[in-house]
Amino acid sequence: MRLAVFASGNGSNFSAIQEAILSKELSADIACVICDQKDAGIYQRAKDAGIPIYYFDIKTFSSKKEYEKAIIAPLDKEMVELIILAGYMRIVGSTLLEAFPKRILNIHPSYLPAFPGKQGIRDAFEAGVDQTGVTIHIVDEGVDSGPILAQEKLPILSTDSLATLEAKIHGIEHRLYSKTIQDYINQLKTRRTYDTSIN
Ligand code: GRF
Repeated sequence: MRLAVFASGNGSNFSAIQEAILSKELSADIACVICDQKDAGIYQRAKDAGIPIYYFDIKTFSSKKEYEKAIIAPLDKEMVELIILAGYMRIVGSTLLEAFPKRILNIHPSYLPAFPGKQGIRDAFEAGVDQTGVTIHIVDEGVDSGPILAQEKLPILSTDSLATLEAKIHGIEHRLYSKTIQDYINQLKTRRTYDTSIN
C-alpha cells in the first residue's frame, strides 16, 4: 500500500511510521510527503529517509480547490493509495475527500470527541480534566469528526506538566498510528468487515 504523509511541522509521527515500515511491523511504503509549511522539521526527516517531499503554499493558489487539485498531481504520479495526516494543520476540503474517499486517516492528540481542534493537548491540560488520550479516525468534511478507528486513554496526573503530557501523548501516537494503519490496510484488502461505511 502506497502512503502519502501530510504534515505541517516536526514530523515525529512520520518518522515513527517510517521506522515501523523498516522493521516490517507495517507493510506499506511512504511514497511521498506533502507539506504546507516552509522550514518545517519534516523536511530533514524526509530527506534523511530518502522520501520525496512536495511543498505547497496555499497562499499562491486562488482557492482551496486549486490548492488541493495541485496536491493531487504528485499523489497520482506517486500512485498513492492512502493518505496519512500527521500533524497537517489544515482542514481537508472536498476536492481531496472526493479523490480519496475513506482513504484519508488522521491522528488527533485527545480522546475525541473531547478537545477537537488545533491544541488538543493544551486544551485538555488547561481544562484540568483527569484523563485525555489519542484518537485515530477516518477523515470526513468536519473537524476531527470522522469514524473512529482506534483510541487510547491517558490519565493526567497531578505531577504532569504540559511538557510531560505532550511527551506521553506522542509516545502513544508513535505506537498506535502504525498499528492502526496496518489494521486499516488489512480491512481495505480483505474487506472482511461488517462496517459498510469503508466499502
Ligand atoms: C501530533 O500530536 C498529532 O496528533 C497532531 O499534530 C502533532 C504532530 O506531531 N495532529 P509531529 O509533527 O508528527 O511530531
